[in-house]
Amino acid sequence: MSAASPVLSVRDLSKTFGAIKAVDGVSFDVRPGEILGLIGPNGSGKSTLFNCILGQLKPDTGHVEVNGRDVSGRRACDLNKLGVGRTFQQLSVFPQMTVLDNIIVAGQEHRGTMLGRLFGAPDAGLAGEADRMIDFFRLTHLRDQMAGSLSYGQQKLVDAAMAFMAGPSLVLLDEPAGGVNLTMLAGLKERLSTYNREHGTTFVVIEHNMEFVMSLCSRIIVLAEGRVIAEGGPEEIRSNQTVIDAYLGG
Ligand SMILES: Nc1ncnc2c1ncn2[C@@H]1O[C@H](COP(=O)(O)OP(=O)(O)O)[C@@H](O)[C@H]1O
Ligand SMILES: [Mg+2]
Repeated sequence: MSAASPVLSVRDLSKTFGAIKAVDGVSFDVRPGEILGLIGPNGSGKSTLFNCILGQLKPDTGHVEVNGRDVSGRRACDLNKLGVGRTFQQLSVFPQMTVLDNIIVAGQEHRGTMLGRLFGAPDAGLAGEADRMIDFFRLTHLRDQMAGSLSYGQQKLVDAAMAFMAGPSLVLLDEPAGGVNLTMLAGLKERLSTYNREHGTTFVVIEHNMEFVMSLCSRIIVLAEGRVIAEGGPEEIRSNQTVIDAYLGG
């Protein structure tokens, strides 16, 4: 496989809920090391697209390849083992567990076998890696606090850190900055771009905050009513009349 082969390749993906075509024939590639933005109005199918790519939902049509391997129909946990991490639009931290334990559990999802979980070390040997992730996301002072006692923005950071415990080559982030204040938003953007630069990890990011998307992403895909209506660099997207009419103008 050549270095330029896509990390993620989506072909003709569709998903219908009753009469609603949530995702309608979507195709795109993501190149290694790229930070791709996925934007579009509420209800345009962004989260459904992620769920179809990641095996949370079964698409009606289409194929998904990760690093050249057909993963259509694979379960989310299988994708995790292939080095694909994700965050959900809704927070998925366990509020009654510490920050550290949340991040260790996320790593176990990736690595752990059932036997390992039953008979292995309680931290599955992941404490060191979890601590490095906590330090990277600047959560060190919150390490031993219950995740539920943190601010919403801090919990979003824990959620992001959890997605990186898959040792991922690809991370899909669904509105990582949704409801987060401006300072935390700038911090999150800086951490994601540093991670990308240092590890070459590829990201696909759904986000409504345009400043965040335009400054973080090298390329942007715009969805409306389940279809791709535009694709290009930040400046191209900002001045694209179809995008302004469907999304940015509002
Ligand atoms: N589980 C579901 N059952 C029925 N309809 C759904 C379900 N999930 C999403 N939808 C519908 O599919 C469309 C796309 O939703 P979604 O993917 O959440 O959009 P976005 O993430 O872009 O806001 C919407 O019309 C939504 O109401
Ligand atoms: Mg969504």
